[in-house]
Amino acid sequence: MKPVKVGLLGLGTVGTGVVRIVEGHQEDLSSQVGSPIIIERIAVNNLNKIRNIEVDRSKLTEDPWDIIRDPDIDVIIEVMGGVEPTKAYILEALERGKHIVTANKDLMALYGSEILAKAQEKQCDVFYEASVAGGIPIIRTLIEGFSSDRIMKIMGIVNGTTNFILSKMSQEGASYEDVLLEAQQLGYAESDPTADVEGLDAARKMAILGTLGFRTNVELSDVTVRGISAVTKEDITYAKKLGYEMKLLGIADRDPEDDEFSITVQPTMVKNTHPIAAVSGVFNAVYVYGEAVGETMFYGAGAGEMPTATSIVADLVAVIKNLKLGVNGLKAIVPYKPKKLKNDET
Ligand code: NDP
Ligand code: HSE
Repeated sequence: MKPVKVGLLGLGTVGTGVVRIVEGHQEDLSSQVGSPIIIERIAVNNLNKIRNIEVDRSKLTEDPWDIIRDPDIDVIIEVMGGVEPTKAYILEALERGKHIVTANKDLMALYGSEILAKAQEKQCDVFYEASVAGGIPIIRTLIEGFSSDRIMKIMGIVNGTTNFILSKMSQEGASYEDVLLEAQQLGYAESDPTADVEGLDAARKMAILGTLGFRTNVELSDVTVRGISAVTKEDITYAKKLGYEMKLLGIADRDPEDDEFSITVQPTMVKNTHPIAAVSGVFNAVYVYGEAVGETMFYGAGAGEMPTATSIVADLVAVIKNLKLGVNGLKAIVPYKPKKLKNDET
């Protein structure tokens, strides 16, 4: 059986988890797809960095173009992050007929439709399950599981770092700065944690979920955002006294009459009897209300090496299965209804 060759862009928190799972579960993965899966090349920023995983150093390169231009590579896993030059790498990889798996919500929230249109043109797959809610398969669920329904509301905790911070401040009285540092050390936070604490990371994820759930083109600028940097220990203590937990909540609502939608991300006092209030630490939860299905809720680790890598490698398996069958899948982000933003004058 001819092996499937994968190029990995990034060997940080998530990339390391990907290598661990592909190597550790090789027998099971290759039996699912009918071929060995080889991580052929890995791009990093600094070849000399000390890593907490052993890799064959001859596979490493500091130039992602080496991997994009390698004709032997079938699939690119992009876990280096950032918008540029990452977008250029992905578009060129698609141009060359390579399939993409990415965890990059910054890129997908801003350029998802452009990237997916290119994928469609080139008959390639772009899978991005890990871009929202780490280990929870919420993207698959919205595209496939609820393709039959009309989703009216998506609400959730979609940023692990801020939930970790708010939970520790609430449960242990810890200081904001100390817990943020801990979240960074654990690999939960973005390279610039401002994106986490100011709500931008959650806004990117809500734009992706809104696009998929409402089947329209939600842009990042459609999301009203407020982060947690101004939330004090006193706010959290006061909320607790009143029977509430402070959570950074994303809420996407669709009007049943005219399909207009609104999406917000903001610190919210959640009644402590609500299941969302019990979501603690790095965990995420996404509540989805569909006209036919009613209430559903999805829960799991929202960040971190192994949960995120689980989603990436599941996408890799799906891509390889499609590749073998000669089909493409999960292209639902291409919008097919015009956007109707609430209070939009245009
Ligand atoms: P890290 O910062 O831990 O890792 C980034 C990796 O990319 C590093 O190995 C770095 O190299 C490499 N890299 C960065 N820039 C370049 C470049 N220009 N050329 C070559 N290599 C480069 O990030 P994470 O693993 O935490 O995150 C990766 C992606 O996954 C991001 O898009 C993030 O938003 C997303 N994500 C992260 C989650 C998490 O829990 N951490 C969860 C879900 C998604 P070097 O090691 O040499 O510095
Ligand atoms: N920084 C992100 C978070 C990583 O804390 O949720 C997962 O997307």
